[in-house]
Amino acid sequence: MCGIVGYVGRSEAAPILLDGLRRLEYRGYDSAGVAIVNGDRVETRKCAGRIAELGKLVAERTPAGTFGISHTRWATHGKATDQNAHPHFDASGNLALVHNGVIENYQALKEELIRGGDTKFVSETDTEVLAHMIGKLYDASAPTNGSTPPQHEKNRLVAAVRVALQQVIGTYGIALVHRDIPDFIAGARRGSPLVLGVGKDENFLASDVSAIVAYTRDAVYLNDFDVVAVERDKFEISSVAGERGSYEVSKVEFTDEDIKKGDYPHYMLKEIFEQHGSVRDAMRGRLSLEECTAKLGGLEMTPAQLRDVGRIVLTGCGTALHAAMVGEYLIEQLAGLPTEIEFASEFRHRNTPMTRDTLVFAISQSGETADTLGALRESRRKGYRTLGICNNVASTIARESDGGVYMHAGPEIGVAATKSFTSQVTILALIALLLGRMRHLSTSEGTVIIEALEALPEKIEQTLKLSDHIRAIAKKYIAAPGMLFFGRQFNFPIALEGALKLKEITYLFAEGHPSAELKHGIIALIRPEIPSLFIAPDDAVFSKNLNNVEQVKARKGPIIAITSGSGAERLASVADDTVTVPSAPDFVMPVLTAIPLQLLAYHLAVELGRDVDKPRNLAKSVTVE
Ligand code: G6P
Repeated sequence: MCGIVGYVGRSEAAPILLDGLRRLEYRGYDSAGVAIVNGDRVETRKCAGRIAELGKLVAERTPAGTFGISHTRWATHGKATDQNAHPHFDASGNLALVHNGVIENYQALKEELIRGGDTKFVSETDTEVLAHMIGKLYDASAPTNGSTPPQHEKNRLVAAVRVALQQVIGTYGIALVHRDIPDFIAGARRGSPLVLGVGKDENFLASDVSAIVAYTRDAVYLNDFDVVAVERDKFEISSVAGERGSYEVSKVEFTDEDIKKGDYPHYMLKEIFEQHGSVRDAMRGRLSLEECTAKLGGLEMTPAQLRDVGRIVLTGCGTALHAAMVGEYLIEQLAGLPTEIEFASEFRHRNTPMTRDTLVFAISQSGETADTLGALRESRRKGYRTLGICNNVASTIARESDGGVYMHAGPEIGVAATKSFTSQVTILALIALLLGRMRHLSTSEGTVIIEALEALPEKIEQTLKLSDHIRAIAKKYIAAPGMLFFGRQFNFPIALEGALKLKEITYLFAEGHPSAELKHGIIALIRPEIPSLFIAPDDAVFSKNLNNVEQVKARKGPIIAITSGSGAERLASVADDTVTVPSAPDFVMPVLTAIPLQLLAYHLAVELGRDVDKPRNLAKSVTVE
């Protein structure tokens, strides 16, 4: 949550900072601000609302200056107001700071500062505490005999940052500037991502490379407890404890072009329509027809280690957890391995009994979700081999796991996850195939699975052609106060995911359930205004699904059916609307059935005039607990 951008160079900072914030808006968008040092003044503009509001404020009176910091907020402590918008200042007003994360002991630190007598707080945020602490420490270390060389000032500020952070419990990605230290930004991270962009005669700090990829593709992904001193032409990384840090400059995988919307009205639609490519990329080079299995070198496990796995735990949040639920069905069916799903937020705090031979997968598009990261750390701490399934290559989860599989889905900007979901499911199918082939699956069964997977991209393309038909259905239900989603087996998690998509971007009430649960309470909700969406492909449980459809019909509930093969014909007399996806074996069907649900949520949200890419109260990457 929250996005940070810092710049120090020779260009005017304001447009670069604003441009970066716009690209980070997916991380939070309830208020925003910039602070730019202009000679002997720190000029700040900040306000509640979107970056567009900040843009207007900056355009009215643009702060001049070639170094500064900026922030887009997703509120944790304190409402979304002008006062609570970052940057925050120390008592002198000379030090400005932006922060992504949560200072858990801020109340105690605040009381201590207030007891000190001279600190007045102007916001309700936890962040302001940090600005005051660093400012106070910096001022207290000032030499008594007048001015000092600029390098001393920089060292003093970095030392103040270190001392303050040593007292902090919580998470932070921070960037700060000081009026008296020209062309200098300090930054630090723990638990919240921070990347240094290395340019020519200019350097950047950002929560995510997408903010700076238009300017440089050379990046240093900072580690927890790194403190970085950034100047135009150099930077230095040390630790909060004061040790010299090592670093590696990496090339960013994607370009600025990849994060543009192109001709699409929304990122979400663009990303839905990229799925034939992203699913293909998730499989690229990972299927061996010769050995009838998947090749996943990133797992860093020998065949013997893979064979000895006795249990699997799949953990994640939100959409990633729904992919994990499909994974549970996949691994149990194809590999016969007991598999459990754990909400990352629960897993990390409860004492799940696990056998020694348990293998844990942390699934996360961003690789930065705090709960998933916490689950990963807890699992590793207990000595379990813990692997990541991430899209963001340099993310914390990717770096802290014992190995894993990258999705290679390309940047996903729309807050509602779409292509990352189908990539996660595809990768879980590869994992199931690999584990299955280490066990009972024959070469011919392996070949059938590979063929089904390889056929997916083309079937996705065909499914995407249903978009207009789905838009017409969405229009029909524009007045619906909510929607129910039902599915069985592989498609039960798709019912959950369909409901989540609808909730996220239309703000309508939606629930997902196993179809047969209908009669155990949910049926009380059925009425003519509430459509029920059944995911009922032509598979082994079709007739069972059909029974449930009939039960809804008998109670005058409108029915939308997502089906395949001869399903449409058999549903004709009961379903009000039918969407027929291409036929496919049941274990890959979720990749296809998820797409109409993404499109339904999208079209309905557009019809309802919702802000599809930036839905209310949400953020793409939740880096707080
Ligand atoms: C947030 C987003 C969801 C996403 C979840 C997990 O809640 O709004 O769309 O599914 O985080 O994100 P991750 O990056 O870990 O997959």
